[in-house]
Amino acid sequence: MTRIRAMTRNDIADVSRLLGQSWRRTYAPIMGGEAVARLSDEKHAPERLAEELEDEDKMSFVAERADGSIAGYAMAAMDGKGDVMLERLHIEPQAFGSGLAVDLLHAVLAAHAGIPSIALEVVEGNDRAIAFYRKHGFEVVERRPAAHGVGDHASLIMRRMLPMA
Ligand SMILES: CC(C)(COP(=O)(O)OP(=O)(O)OC[C@H]1O[C@@H](n2cnc3c(N)ncnc32)[C@H](O)[C@@H]1OP(=O)(O)O)[C@@H](O)C(=O)NCCC(=O)NCCS
Repeated sequence: MTRIRAMTRNDIADVSRLLGQSWRRTYAPIMGGEAVARLSDEKHAPERLAEELEDEDKMSFVAERADGSIAGYAMAAMDGKGDVMLERLHIEPQAFGSGLAVDLLHAVLAAHAGIPSIALEVVEGNDRAIAFYRKHGFEVVERRPAAHGVGDHASLIMRRMLPMA
C-alpha cells in the first residue's frame, strides 16, 4: 500500500536521492551524464529542497510505501499570475506503469482546485513522460529551443485544461 501525502522536512534526504537517481537515469541518455550530474547536484541539494518547502507558492507531495520508503515525488509551483506549473514528477522505476504517477498528479490537481489549467515543461526525447502526459490530457502548446531547468536541451511546454467548477 502506497499513500500520497504532503512532503515534510523528514523526507528531504530521500527526495534528494530519488531526484538524483531519476535525473541521471532519465536525462543522461539525452544530454550526457556529466551535465546531468552537475545540474542535479545543484538543483536537488537538500538545502534547496528545504527552501522550496518553506515557499508558500510551491507544493510538494511524496508517495510513501507501508515500510516508510519514498516511491515517488511531485512538486508544483504557482507564479505571480496564478498559473500553476507541475515542476517535477518522478517515481521509482519499480513503480512505472503502476498508476502511482497519476495518483501524484491527482494530489497536485486536488490541492489546486479551481485553477483553469496546469502546465509543465518536459525535455524533448523524454518519450515515456511525454506519452504519460498526453495520456492524461496534456497537449503540447509550445516548443522551446532550450529548457529552463535542464541545460540547453530543447523542451516542450504541455498544458492540460481543467473543467471549471
Ligand atoms: C514520467 C513518469 C512519472 C510517468 O509514470 P509511469 O508510471 O512511467 O507512466 P505510465 O506507465 O502510466 O505511462 C507511460 C506511457 O508511456 C509509454 N512508453 C514507455 N516508454 C515509451 C517510449 N520510449 N516512447 C513512447 N511511449 C513510451 C508506456 O507504454 C505508457 O503508455 P501506456 O500506458 O499506454 O502503455 C515516470 O515514468 C517517471 O518518473 N519517469 C522519470 C522521471 C521523469 O521523466 N519525470 C517527468 C519529468 S517532466
